[in-house]
Order: sequence, then C-alpha cells, then structure tokens
Amino acid sequence: MSTIKKIKGFNDLFPPVSAIYSRMEQTAREVFSRYGYYEIRVPLLEKTELFARSIGDETDVVQKEMYTFPDRKGRSLTLRPEATASVVRAYIENKRYASESVSRMFTFGPMFRYERPQKGRQRQFHQVNCELLGAEAPQSDAELILMLWEYLQALGLDGLHLDLNSLGCRECRPAYHETLGSYLAGVDADELCDDCRRRKTTNPLRVLDCKVEGCRSVMQQAPRLADHLCSGCQSHFASVRTILDRAGIPYTINPRLVRGLDYYQRTTFEVVAENIGAQTAVAGGGRYDGLVSDLGGPALPGTGFACGMERLALLLQEQEQPGTPVDFFLAVLDDEARDEAILQAQQLRKQGLAGEVGYEAKSPKSHLRHANKAGAAYCLLLGGQELQEKAFVVKNMQSGAQETVSWEETGRALRQQRV
Ligand code: HAM
Repeated sequence: MSTIKKIKGFNDLFPPVSAIYSRMEQTAREVFSRYGYYEIRVPLLEKTELFARSIGDETDVVQKEMYTFPDRKGRSLTLRPEATASVVRAYIENKRYASESVSRMFTFGPMFRYERPQKGRQRQFHQVNCELLGAEAPQSDAELILMLWEYLQALGLDGLHLDLNSLGCRECRPAYHETLGSYLAGVDADELCDDCRRRKTTNPLRVLDCKVEGCRSVMQQAPRLADHLCSGCQSHFASVRTILDRAGIPYTINPRLVRGLDYYQRTTFEVVAENIGAQTAVAGGGRYDGLVSDLGGPALPGTGFACGMERLALLLQEQEQPGTPVDFFLAVLDDEARDEAILQAQQLRKQGLAGEVGYEAKSPKSHLRHANKAGAAYCLLLGGQELQEKAFVVKNMQSGAQETVSWEETGRALRQQRV
C-alpha cells in the first residue's frame, strides 16, 4: 500500500530538534514570568473576519497567505496566521481589562501561512508570542524589547541585531500616507514590482520595505516617515530609545521597517540574524494602540512581539545541546524477569532516576549494545538468578566495572554516582 506523506511546508519534529523547541518554550516561561507575564492558550481556528479586520484586508497575509475554508455550516474559518489577533479577541471576550489594569500574556504554538516554503519559512511554523495590553507609556515598549532581548540571550544567542522604527499614529500617519502617495504617483509604474504597483494605491507604506531591487532604489528618495511624526510620536520614540541606549541594547533605526501587518502604530521592531538564509527576521513586533477598539473592545493600548521558532531553531542547532541524562537501561535476561523489570524500573523512576527497560529476554551482549545506544550510565541486568536474589548485576557503562546490588540499594547507588 502506498504511504501518505505530509503536506508541503508542514514539518515533523524529532529529537534533537524537538528538544530545542521544548527549550525555547521552557526558557520563555522562565524569563517572561519574571516580568509578570502569564501563559495563555487560544484556539488555532478563528472566524476569518477576525484576521481581515485586525491584520488588514490589503496585507499579503490576508490577501494571499491564509488557510481559509468554510465549515460544515458554510461559515468562513481561518487557521490563525499569527497570534496577536486571537489574543486580543480573547482579552476582549474574557473582559480581562475589567480585572487587570495591565495584562501581560504569552503563548506558543503553530501558525499557518500559505507562503513559498524555503529555509526558515514554512507553511506551518511556530511562534513564541507576548502581548502587553493596557499600557501606553513608552517605558512599556522599552521593557518589552528588553524582555525579548533577555530571552534571546538566555537561549545563548548573540550576534543578533535589533531594527527599530516608529510608524506614527492615527493622527500623523494619514498625512504621511498622502505625501507618500503623491510621491508614488510620480513614479513610473514600470519601475515597481507587480505587488508594489498594487500597493501604491492600496497600502503605500508596504512599498517602503519591498525587497525587490527596483522598488528599493525608487524608494531611496521617498519622503521619510520619521520626518512626518507628530510631537507625541516623536517624544514617545525618543523615550523608548533613551531606555534602550541606557540598557546597552545595540539597535539601528531602520526607516524602511514597516512590518507586514496593518495594526501597528508608533514603535515597531525586528530582530535580525545573519547566516540563516534569506529569511533573517527571527522576531518582530510593535505597538498596536487601535487594535483593541477595532475588534470591538474598549480603547486600550497594546504592544507585543513574536519570535519565529523555526528560525531560532536554525541558530540553536549550531549550539551544543545538553542531552537528557539516561541513568539506567534495565535489561531482561530471562522471560520470567519481564514483569519484575517493569515494577523495579518504576521504583527507580520514583526515586528521580530516568531509564528504559529492554522488554524482551536477550543476551547480555545484545542488551549492552542497546544500553550504549540509549546513552545509559548503567545497565541493570535482571535474569532468573537476580530475581531469586532480589538484586541486579549493575554494569557501569563507562568503566565496564560490574557488581551485584540489591534492588533496595540500587536507586541510592545510582543517585550517588550521578553527582
Ligand atoms: P510577524 O513578523 O509576521 O509578526 O512574525 C513574527 C516572526 O514569525 C517573524 O519574525 C518570523 O521569525 C516568524 N515567521 C513569520 N512567518 C513565518 C513563516 N512562514 N515561517 C517561519 N517563520 C515565520 C507577527 O506575527 C506579529 N503577530 C507579532 C506581534 C505580536 N506583534 C505584536 N504582537
């Protein structure tokens, strides 16, 4: 019979890569909880309208990349392309703002975007996502970035770079849109890529960060958003930068950084890595003050970021990963020892030891081979004679030394050797 293969752009994760994902999640829990963040879980599937209204109808994500389908009753549903919209929906729906003046939340999980798969770009990918709702002060943007930076450092990643920009707010951006629109109206359509010819009228800001060479050179002379910020946005941005400077975070102001999601205002940022292929952004985020009210909630501000776990994993794979210790391999030598092996292994695990059972009765030589492969510190041999004596032959896999140790004493002996 033919085998069934996975969908293009969707991946299976096995050790050691799956262990890297666990470490990313564990480190996130440790770091973020020190900043007052709590973990939440939100659905993978939402009403399509949620993403259209938050990410923006004219974005590439909504236009071309969503997995959207009708359910059995014909309602349009979408596999989430990102988590912010869902977290904000959940925040509003559960009225978190009524009991928390500031909500600090993080979540992990798969996201889905129908993009062309390549190194660091999948159709199902994973994010570590943080959202800070209810805080308006520029200090909160800076703290969020410091937390992200600490997280990346806790993972042992350096050599990363932070790009920073301000996108202005609903007060000052419309005027800039117009200025940019008039500039683009004067640009010969042939000089722009197909996407930017459309964006020129639908979403001119996105032309700013187009990677296509022709568009880049056209935009060299474009009016800069930084020169059109209102005084509120200017002072907000200056305060964020002051804290980052004082904290010694290396960053570059990147006036082209507009991000691919429409909800951003004011501070936006991306963390960029080198040497992981064409997709270099390992994290991105920013402030989204109008989003809560756009989704029907109160007029409360928000800011957040997401790290792309596939891209972080590419960096982490180059590091030496600490393996999980395997204390014992319990080897069954005779059929009559099979049940006892399970029960004795259970006793050892209750004492905090980790190990596996070789279930089938085999020769010591064959078991030792398996013990070696499992990376076990000790092989515990259990045959008919040991069953009678209520003992194991305990073999040190490194030195080769062996001695008979009673079941009762084995746990203690193994734990002592561990330290
Ligand atoms: P984003 O920039 O679209 O932002 O995605 C964040 C990160 O997810 C990217 O920097 C990248 O590392 C990773 N990523 C995105 N698409 C893919 C893909 N197809 N394959 C692999 N990795 C990918 C957001 O999603 C916002 N929701 C972040 C945010 C949270 N802003 C405020 N709060």
